[in-house]
Amino acid sequence: MEKFVITGGKPLHGEVTISGAKNAAVAILPATILAEGVCVIENLPNISDVSVSLNILSVLGARVRMLSKNTYEIDTTHLVGTNVPDELSRQTRASNYFLGALLARFGRAQVAMPGGCNLGSRPIDQHLKAFCALGAQDSVDYGMITVRAKEELSGARIFFDKVSVGSTMNAMLAAVRAKGQTVLENCAKEPHVVDLANFLNMCGADVRGAGTDVIKVRGVESMHGCTYSIIPDQIEAGSYMVAAAATGGDVLIKNVTPKHLEPITAKLRRAGAEIEEFDDAVRVRRTGPILPLKINTMPHPGFPTDMQPLMGVLLSVAQGTSTVTEGIWDNRFRYVDELRKMGANVQVDGQVAVFEGVEQLQPAPLRASDLRAGAAMVVAALIAHGTSEIEEISHIERGYEDIVQKLQGLGADIRKVERQPAALSQAL
Ligand code: EPU
Repeated sequence: MEKFVITGGKPLHGEVTISGAKNAAVAILPATILAEGVCVIENLPNISDVSVSLNILSVLGARVRMLSKNTYEIDTTHLVGTNVPDELSRQTRASNYFLGALLARFGRAQVAMPGGCNLGSRPIDQHLKAFCALGAQDSVDYGMITVRAKEELSGARIFFDKVSVGSTMNAMLAAVRAKGQTVLENCAKEPHVVDLANFLNMCGADVRGAGTDVIKVRGVESMHGCTYSIIPDQIEAGSYMVAAAATGGDVLIKNVTPKHLEPITAKLRRAGAEIEEFDDAVRVRRTGPILPLKINTMPHPGFPTDMQPLMGVLLSVAQGTSTVTEGIWDNRFRYVDELRKMGANVQVDGQVAVFEGVEQLQPAPLRASDLRAGAAMVVAALIAHGTSEIEEISHIERGYEDIVQKLQGLGADIRKVERQPAALSQAL
């Protein structure tokens, strides 16, 4: 029952430090199961999707100890279960990574059909195809997915019909301890795929080629714990880059890998932002007008779908007509309804949205319909002159650590307040 109250119209200024990558963390945490020992994971973002994954590990019998806000020690030597409780699996899409990790270690796993953002249909056929190729069978019963190895898992050649981050990572997890070599083709190349491979290799696995579309995994008999630091979050960094550009601010965004930001940097430069790259930081400034763009979202290294709603906000106040084509998810323009409440002029036809830039956005009562749509609403509220309120912020807190404090540090007028229950607020 909490909401954000944001008074916009002020350019953001100052420095912000980016947290560890959510989409790497939620795969690396289940991967600690394969280490069968003690792992220390550093730079873990303090967000609810990570807490859910840590809770799942605890329930399965791992010893989870917080060493600091962003560092956890996880001992997976003695696990007691292979079933992820229903209510935990449904809280995050990433619970499906427990399928690959538990299958590889115990030959069996059960997870409920995962939750997460509603971006349209989110099948897991490619995950299951990979498990089956390695020698498992699957069944779905009353919303629970069970995978079971028929005998020992053994290496296989797997061609993904779709480029999929989740299937690539789940197949890697399942294959690292299988007998012989697995060759994965048409793989996703996102930075978090590479991060998972690096973590697995630090634990004694033999994974080569991550970051290209062919990944070769030679199965090893045993693995061990390690200390590992998660990469910076590409999308959190991109979100602050857009916020800086949209508000006409000047922000130094620290703890980033500029290479991972290239598709975002290139588009923001075309939109009129000035971007300076340093070893592990980028500075984003904008003084001139926002120029219109054409954007097509694609798998890495294309323009990331997770940045699409944020760029949509920027383009809603560009000088001219922009076109955004969503190439990954079939339902990722739901935020447009909220933007229209603010006076944006956007037409959506299937997977294409056309933005006719308007001079200004007006404040409005807003809703975070999913994680990135929620972040987009925050940026929209930051540029609108006046006070907007955003509800359903739990979606935003699934993926952005300390967003209120970080934005306040940049001079934004943002507060998190308790929302009055409807009956009570009417009575007052
Ligand atoms: N797909 C299939 N079959 C499958 C798996 C995927 O057809 O078995 C399709 C999907 O329907 C989609 C496309 O393949 O059209 C790509 O899906 P992918 O598997 O890559 O997505 P994901 O692993 O479920 C991750 C991120 C998403 C991000 C996508 C694309 C995590 C936990 N989630 O999802 O992040 O949008 O990759 O980059 O890593 C977010 O962080 O806001 C978010 C939604």
